[in-house]
Amino acid sequence: MGKVATDSCLFVIFGATGDLMHRKLLPALYQLMQDELLPQRCRILGVGRDGELTDDRFRKDARVALGNAGLRDKHRLDGWCAAHLEYLGIGAGGPADYARLIERMAKLERGDATSGNRVFYLALPPAVFPETIEGLGKVGLHQGRGWTRLVIEKPFGHDLNSARRLNALVHRYFDESQVYRIDHYLGKESVQNLLAFRFGNALFESAWNRDHVKSVQITVAEDLGIEQRARYYEDVGALRDMVQNHLTQLLTLTAMEVPAAFEADSIRFEKVKVLRSVAPIGSDAVVYGQYGPGHAPGRGKRKALAGYRQESGVAARSPTETFVALRLAIDNWRWQGVPFYLSTGKRLARRATEITITFRSPPVALFRTLDGCITRNNVLVMTLQPNEGFDLSFEVKSPGENFTLQTQHMDFRYAEAFGAPLAAGYETLLREVVQGDLTLFVHADEAEASWRLYAPLLRRRRTLHFYPAGGPGPDAALRLMRH
Ligand code: BG6
Repeated sequence: MGKVATDSCLFVIFGATGDLMHRKLLPALYQLMQDELLPQRCRILGVGRDGELTDDRFRKDARVALGNAGLRDKHRLDGWCAAHLEYLGIGAGGPADYARLIERMAKLERGDATSGNRVFYLALPPAVFPETIEGLGKVGLHQGRGWTRLVIEKPFGHDLNSARRLNALVHRYFDESQVYRIDHYLGKESVQNLLAFRFGNALFESAWNRDHVKSVQITVAEDLGIEQRARYYEDVGALRDMVQNHLTQLLTLTAMEVPAAFEADSIRFEKVKVLRSVAPIGSDAVVYGQYGPGHAPGRGKRKALAGYRQESGVAARSPTETFVALRLAIDNWRWQGVPFYLSTGKRLARRATEITITFRSPPVALFRTLDGCITRNNVLVMTLQPNEGFDLSFEVKSPGENFTLQTQHMDFRYAEAFGAPLAAGYETLLREVVQGDLTLFVHADEAEASWRLYAPLLRRRRTLHFYPAGGPGPDAALRLMRH
């Protein structure tokens, strides 16, 4: 992980006029080339349905997108777009369209600028993953003169069966070693740091088990609503959008055993083992919520926020959950009896991604007979965003004649220690794709094991608990956490 990618390549990005391309992929590719972490010889061929769009228009739109992403150097941006970007309208994606794609790629690869290496990136709505993979495979684009890699965005499938079908289709043409399933949380520096924290520090790892840990809480709270994504979100809800992928990644990285080596296969193998050890999730261990109208947090005159069902594009009686809280049990030697609480929701009071490890109380309450001496549990909070860092609470004697205990904190903040902002997820992930390192990507088995875990929940009837937008979430979730 983390080396400069020296291979040049051609990025063929499907869905090149979409939101992901504009907000994440283009700025990341631009930045990587500016920082010389990707060779200048790389080329980007945007592919979309729009047959009318010209190279020129595509570049202009890209220019606007880069500006919106906060990139300012006009001269450089214009030059980069002109030198690196091209567009091809692929219409309905029939054999003739793919023949034109092959022709265009050949033109771009002439002169060996990209060494014949190719990244096919599916920045597409999931419904068109299968036809695109099939389209590439049928014309033989799964193999080439150099290496060929396939990047698939989330969500990978809609449930266990669709994930299995998608894996089978991918494997009809591509070898698993060519497949990079994205979960952008794995590109976050603070998420990768979980591995460094756990396996680079004997102190914490020795306490990372049922003997010392009382409970683990994994929270991904968002203050934003669904923005302009009603069509997508109505179909997925929080369980599919966040829990099955991002929260499950955090769960496996927190709970996995020490891998045999620091490389993709060993790490991914340990993550799958965790998923296979999770006990079936009971109905009483899940809370679903949906935000109703509310107010932005803060003091004074607070901005009114619409409820989910009032958002444009959402059905008036939509049953889609915007919040999920779960209690999981991991049936293995390390974690038997330690509850793992997962929760995520939109339109909550604050944005915070945190893993909270609550340690057990001392086995003997030595100070219990003294006034004001309640021993509190040590708590380690790993903040993955924003304001990334750690905070460990511990008890000290407060100064004075009386023996009383007080909680104090040791903390570490990335920003204070390193100054520079942490790399955005997509930059890291794109560089790893070109580098050919699969560690930060989801293996086929992992995607299926995760869906297998949540499959029973998707089939079960559910009760929605409404919560006001801008608040802490449903009361039922707080009760579940206090259990
Ligand atoms: C995406 C989800 O995968 O992750 C969004 O589709 C969510 O609904 C986003 O808002 C959260 O990502 P981050 O990096 O802002 O925590």
